[in-house]
Order: sequence, then structure tokens, then C-alpha cells
Amino acid sequence: MYSEKVMDHFNNPRNVGEIENPSGVGTVGNAKCGDIMRIYLDIDGQGIIRDVKFKTFGCGAAVATSSMATELVKGKTVEEALLVTNKAVMEALDGLPPVKVHCSLLAEEAIHAALWDYAQKNGIVIEGLKKPVEDIGEMEEEEEY
Ligand code: FES
Repeated sequence: MYSEKVMDHFNNPRNVGEIENPSGVGTVGNAKCGDIMRIYLDIDGQGIIRDVKFKTFGCGAAVATSSMATELVKGKTVEEALLVTNKAVMEALDGLPPVKVHCSLLAEEAIHAALWDYAQKNGIVIEGLKKPVEDIGEMEEEEEY
């Protein structure tokens, strides 16, 4: 039921850990399943994401999507990282079962939360970035899959 890529990223997650003194850190949870994800970003003076780490207390799909999401944003500019949506992450993983789609939203929102933190710390506005929610369980009802 899971693609090989999902299994690979679940069994060998990339970029697990934390960054000391990160440029931005974001934590997002889903009260419905109780899962939590935290993303740390190291962003240089040109706005390029030099390093990214994550910690996920969550299901296998959450681990795999966080791992893939970190791979997709590494080396990108802040603006490019905004384009890494949960759909992009799922495509890169060759899909997720429908009941696990919400897990990929956790990864997208945690990246947004970390970017938001970075923007706040630096007094900048990132075009197109909305204030992240802390509990994505609230937004799921509005999402159409
Ligand atoms: Fe909660 Fe997957 S079941 S993130």
C-alpha cells in the first residue's frame, strides 16, 4: 500500500535531528491523531536554505513526508521553499494512500511555520506566506482531497 519511496524515507529518514541556533523553527501538530512535527532551518544571508533538520513524533507517513520535504527545500531559496506543497511532497514520494494525505500537510505546514519564524526574527515579509496554524486538524475540514 506504500510506494517504495515512502518505505525508503520511512526506514532511512533524511535530515533527522535539530539545528542549534536555527534561523527559523516551526512546530505543527494535529490534535486528531496527536502527531507533532518540528522543522529547523538554517538560512544564509542570501535567503538560501543551507541546512534543514526535522523531528517528528508521528506515524510512518509523517516521517516519510518530513524526510522528503526536507530534501526538497534544502538548497532552495525561501521563495522556492514555499512552492514545496504537500502535493509536491506526495508526488516526489510516488503518492500516499488517501487516509494518509493529511500527514503530508503536517510537513508543509511545519516548513511554513519555520519560514514564518525566520521572517519574524528578521523583520521581513515573505510574499505568499500566511501565518501558520499550530493544529492542522482544524484546517483539514476545509481541505478537499
Ligand atoms: Fe497523524 Fe499521520 S496519522 S500525521
